[in-house]
Amino acid sequence: MELSEKVVVVTGAGGGMGKAISEKLLAEGARVIGMDLKEESMKDQDHSQFTAVAVDILDEEAVAGAFAEAHKQSGKIDGLVNAIGMAQSASPIEDVSLELWHKLMNVNVTSLFLTSKEAAKYMKKQNQGSIITIASISAVRPRPGLQAYIASKGAAESFSRALAIELAPHGIRVNTVHPGPTDTGMLGQFAASGADVETTKKQIFADSVPMGRLVAPSDIAESISYLISDRAAMVTGAVLHVDGGRGL
Ligand SMILES: NC(=O)c1ccc[n+]([C@@H]2O[C@H](COP(=O)([O-])OP(=O)(O)OC[C@H]3O[C@@H](n4cnc5c(N)ncnc54)[C@H](O)[C@@H]3O)[C@@H](O)[C@H]2O)c1
Repeated sequence: MELSEKVVVVTGAGGGMGKAISEKLLAEGARVIGMDLKEESMKDQDHSQFTAVAVDILDEEAVAGAFAEAHKQSGKIDGLVNAIGMAQSASPIEDVSLELWHKLMNVNVTSLFLTSKEAAKYMKKQNQGSIITIASISAVRPRPGLQAYIASKGAAESFSRALAIELAPHGIRVNTVHPGPTDTGMLGQFAASGADVETTKKQIFADSVPMGRLVAPSDIAESISYLISDRAAMVTGAVLHVDGGRGL
């Protein structure tokens, strides 16, 4: 029960990785405040230490309110895991609308700004904290047709490193995890329109991983539990590839 004193906010807690991360943190004894668009997406997490909060992470006022409530209930916020995100269906750049570009940037980058801003406010007062952003190995090992998604993940990594240097004097660590293709509901959404989703998952994604299989959400959760823990006390500004070698 290494994390028994920790209070951790997990965004995207109703998603494939968010669920596995919440489960792992709860199993390690942490108190978890899960945030996602709909409360019902978090209903599987039936645990006395888990609180589900329905909130649109792009709504600045609602996010501030959700963090204030979490802090009021728990007295502190030790960790923030940014696990929300949105996929792009592989498409040539000429077919990508400005509207989709903005949406991807908002969900995958602006969300990080809004949650990290709130977390930093509370963590600075405590002089400690750990913020982790799930970006993507595609930021450094791109695939064709995912230009907007990949740009958003590159921004997520840069933002994380910028915060790491800014917040280090306050005892707050900020790290990035780059997953390879991971077996969640999102993976099929990267398929080109009209392409068979299962074939894409196997032939484009699983076969591109040197270790021969898709990443499991639990693989990501293991890395998060380490980065939240005090074992990672001197790890900040790091970019951890949990990708079975896809980035090589
Ligand atoms: N699955 C993959 O292959 C893969 C690979 C690399 C990186 N990633 C990244 O990992 C993270 C988690 O992805 P996942 O596979 O678990 O996806 P997922 O689609 O299963 O989960 C994403 C969650 O984010 C939530 N969300 C989206 N917009 C929101 C908003 N405005 N407010 C609140 N919640 C919102 C969704 O409701 C969903 O529950 C994402 O950042 C994704 O880009 C995924």
